Amino acid sequence: MGFIDIITNKFKKPEGRVEGVEKVTGNGKFAAEYQVKNVCYSVLVNSTVPSGKIKSILVDKAKEVEGVIDIITHLHKPMVPGMATEDKIKESKFGLPVFHTDKIFFKGQPIAMVIAETLEDATFAASLVEAEYQKDSFIIEFESAKESIPLKPEGKERGSEDAWQNLPFIIDEQYNIKADIHNPMEMHATIAHWTGNDTLRLYDKNQGVNNVQKIIGKLFGLPEKNIEVFSEFVGGGFGSGLRVWPHVLASIMAAKQVNRPVKLMLTRPQMFAGTGYRPASWQRLKIGSDKEGNLLGVLHQAKNGTSLYENFNDGITRVTRLIYKLPNLKTEAAIVPLNLSTPTWMRGPGDCTGVFALESAVDELSYKLKMDPVELRLKNISLQKHPDSGLPWSTHFLDEGLKRGAKMIGWDARKPKPASTIEGDWYIGYGMAVGMWNAGRREAKAAIIFHKDGSMKVQTAMTDIGTGTGTGMQNIAHEITGISKDKISIELGNSALPPAPSQGGSTGLSSVSGAVFEVSNQLKLKLAEYASAIDPGFKSIPADQIILTESKIALKNNATVSVSYNELFEKNSLDEVRVEVSSKPGDEQKKFAFCSSSAHFCKVRVNKRTGKVKVDKLAVVGDGGKIINSQAAANQMSGAAVGGIGMALMEENQIDAKLGSLIANDLAGYHFAVNADAPIIEVDFINKPDPNINPSGAKGLGEVGIIGTAPAIANAIYNAIGLRMRDLPITPDKIL
Ligand code: MOS
Repeated sequence: MGFIDIITNKFKKPEGRVEGVEKVTGNGKFAAEYQVKNVCYSVLVNSTVPSGKIKSILVDKAKEVEGVIDIITHLHKPMVPGMATEDKIKESKFGLPVFHTDKIFFKGQPIAMVIAETLEDATFAASLVEAEYQKDSFIIEFESAKESIPLKPEGKERGSEDAWQNLPFIIDEQYNIKADIHNPMEMHATIAHWTGNDTLRLYDKNQGVNNVQKIIGKLFGLPEKNIEVFSEFVGGGFGSGLRVWPHVLASIMAAKQVNRPVKLMLTRPQMFAGTGYRPASWQRLKIGSDKEGNLLGVLHQAKNGTSLYENFNDGITRVTRLIYKLPNLKTEAAIVPLNLSTPTWMRGPGDCTGVFALESAVDELSYKLKMDPVELRLKNISLQKHPDSGLPWSTHFLDEGLKRGAKMIGWDARKPKPASTIEGDWYIGYGMAVGMWNAGRREAKAAIIFHKDGSMKVQTAMTDIGTGTGTGMQNIAHEITGISKDKISIELGNSALPPAPSQGGSTGLSSVSGAVFEVSNQLKLKLAEYASAIDPGFKSIPADQIILTESKIALKNNATVSVSYNELFEKNSLDEVRVEVSSKPGDEQKKFAFCSSSAHFCKVRVNKRTGKVKVDKLAVVGDGGKIINSQAAANQMSGAAVGGIGMALMEENQIDAKLGSLIANDLAGYHFAVNADAPIIEVDFINKPDPNINPSGAKGLGEVGIIGTAPAIANAIYNAIGLRMRDLPITPDKIL
């Protein structure tokens, strides 16, 4: 049995999540759990062919089922005004025009939706809907389809290719990664409720309520303010909730059609073709160095799968432009249309894939150079400036991360010669890799409502997808105001609250922490302003001199000045005090480059007889600027590491090229890492604030935790058995 041991004792004592009790007691409501009066249930019917046209849909038998209210098809549905016509789908950016086309792009595409009084009625009736298709040929196999798609330049070329072709140390290899599926615990679900002719309420699983509001507004021709979106609890997203998928549109159409609230929850097999995935990819990476180990050139080529109706580029080569100095660099990419649903961002999108090739190649080069892989990295990481923009990094501590990580794993025990540590049938190996991510920050708003009893509520529309955003907000509000945590409640995931960006791309806490930081200071200033009407000692006092206690506002350096909240509220005739701020990037983005980084180390054992790989230990040092909540941050890193083990060793969205189907479309057929696969995971943080990113100094950690995990494992496998694994997942058949 594996277990997860998170080292957090260096930091403050870990504290519970603000939403923890609600979650574990079942009081927190996930999208499908809201009780809406008069609700009816719906079930999607999916195409059974991967390509062609719908000739006819037979719904008569299904309609006879007791409790069936209506059945939506492309011939019978409310029109969605913003939905793209067939020739404009790609430009529309709205994705599949569900029920607005008779064309079939992939197997599993929704072709009908049964609405009934109960889920059972709807499920049974859906099984009776039959379609006839005019079948067409299809392409579903990425490996063969990619061949004919030409590469195009991606990003500006640095230096020249000729400059390094004759270097003494060159590695030139290809890497293949199978498609991965997000597989959150909570299935995607929507309850759509038209509360009036042109007012809509949605309880929906997503990673950004304001994004949903915007997209639905455009598609249905509604002002955004007429759409309420609730996403108060989310059971994991990993990127799958960053888009508005066809099932959301289908439930809104259905609710219009039957003039009642409609609930739709995808089944897990429907999720496999309905809410994105990390696309299959191919890469070629050629890297060269001089004999001292100075990396002088890289050629990185990448292709990823996409659907026939949308162009999704995963950005695989971006990370190669980020980490090393590389005076000569050329990156090229292409996307490969397939009869599959559209892929999307999945944890560490692009970088996770790209770094597998890059960090495997750097490792391979280290053996050729007979140089320690950590040394090789330390020599080449661009620590001073972003290699592309030339802007100085605001902060960048990957060198320190590498040194700490090496100690944590016991790097000294590594024998450079592969296959030199054997325990019975097991070969032991050590490996490492780095991860990096362009750290971002976007505009976010936050509000505080303060009450006479010294309690307050902090609000933002941002959705907490399980990352600990709400807890982080509470921590910051407490730190700035001094109000005790048990008196600070948090409200999130509701479009009526101050708008915030989606939670994605490791920008969630980085964006909202700035807003909470500023609004907490604003609260102090606002209360001081009211207090100054009673005690002039509060006039023109800066926020950092103001203290909020249980019962009164006071000054740090002058004990004689204070006003009780009771008096403050009474004299100013207040019911509550509300402050709201918007916090957004300024021109610092023009002066500095920002990154989060990670150094991953691991120890594996490989059984030469069975091909089994067991990760014994993972150590990861993350740099996400200031750590707001060490427990939530460590959870991010260790959860991502387990995801990375899945990517490295197990996960593949297998397809049947003959039938045009996904083979593994449930939890039995699709393997990912579970607790028993998880090793000891040690997490440490640099924990130094980035003074320029935002007022809180915190940067995102959601992506970097996974980015370097898979290559660290592959590199450890090489060290263990001397076999270079360039295709993921590394299943036992590849070892044997
Ligand atoms: Mo993530 S792929 O930023 O949810």
